[in-house]
Amino acid sequence: LPSVIRIPVVVHVIHNGDAVGSNENIANGQVLSQITVFNQDFRRMSGTPGFGAGVDTTIEFCLAQVDPNGNPTTGIDRVNRGIATYNSMNAIQAAKTATIWDPTKYLNMWTFAFGGGMSSTLGYAQFPSGSGLEGMGTDPCIDDLGGGNATTDGVVCNFNTWGSRTIFPAGTYAGTQYDKGRTMTHEVGHMFGLRHTWGDGDCTVDDFCADTPNCDGQFYSTGPSCAAPTQCGNVRQVENYMDYSDDRCMNMFTQNQKDRMLAVLMNSPRRDDLL
Ligand code: ARG
Ligand code: ZN
Ligand code: CA
Repeated sequence: LPSVIRIPVVVHVIHNGDAVGSNENIANGQVLSQITVFNQDFRRMSGTPGFGAGVDTTIEFCLAQVDPNGNPTTGIDRVNRGIATYNSMNAIQAAKTATIWDPTKYLNMWTFAFGGGMSSTLGYAQFPSGSGLEGMGTDPCIDDLGGGNATTDGVVCNFNTWGSRTIFPAGTYAGTQYDKGRTMTHEVGHMFGLRHTWGDGDCTVDDFCADTPNCDGQFYSTGPSCAAPTQCGNVRQVENYMDYSDDRCMNMFTQNQKDRMLAVLMNSPRRDDLL
């Protein structure tokens, strides 16, 4: 393995004609603030809010500098699709398919204005695509992830949960519990094969990582104390990026989560271009 894996990112800012820097056509600074958060969180840098626990995953992110035609790019792809709000998963998936850059060469990310049935969603991901990963059920680290379609490979969020208010104060952001860019850290965790710490089940279901304690269903740790209940005989690891805590409460990936992400990256159809 290389000592650091650097991943080129393209951010597709999907808008409907607002000036750059207003509403869903988010400013370059807001875009960049999320890249900073990825590097703080995945490399466990000292600037990471809540810095302390967890491991350095050795995965790093940078905005792409060459576009699919070989021309220079900022890695920020602004696309006016003339749609004010994206109200369904189908509408979002269609926009992804229409704008995606080769997912074996770029990690594709999208920001949208969510509305309607998507209003209460912060963001979402799909498991690794191409499904070369399906045979990995025999790997001790990796269960059968299923995997999404390559034409929609990537992570998505509502524009007001993209980036960090701490780093880019001028932006428009959702409620302060989601103001540090950890929605996208969580979603990229899924994209690299991580499950929720509660395994989307009860105490009997795990996430295939021995060092994240089993826990019981969804739990939103919040408030100044970031309370961590005892569940299934363990103190719940509410500071894990793969739980549902407020951004302020999150600060860690574990060693087993790192192992799992690296195993996915090394075995995924994307790997040639991601390393
Ligand atoms: N997919 C989850 C949702 O939309 C993301 C949760 C991220 N949590 C966070 N603190 N940012 O609810
Ligand atoms: Zn999730
Ligand atoms: Ca676990």
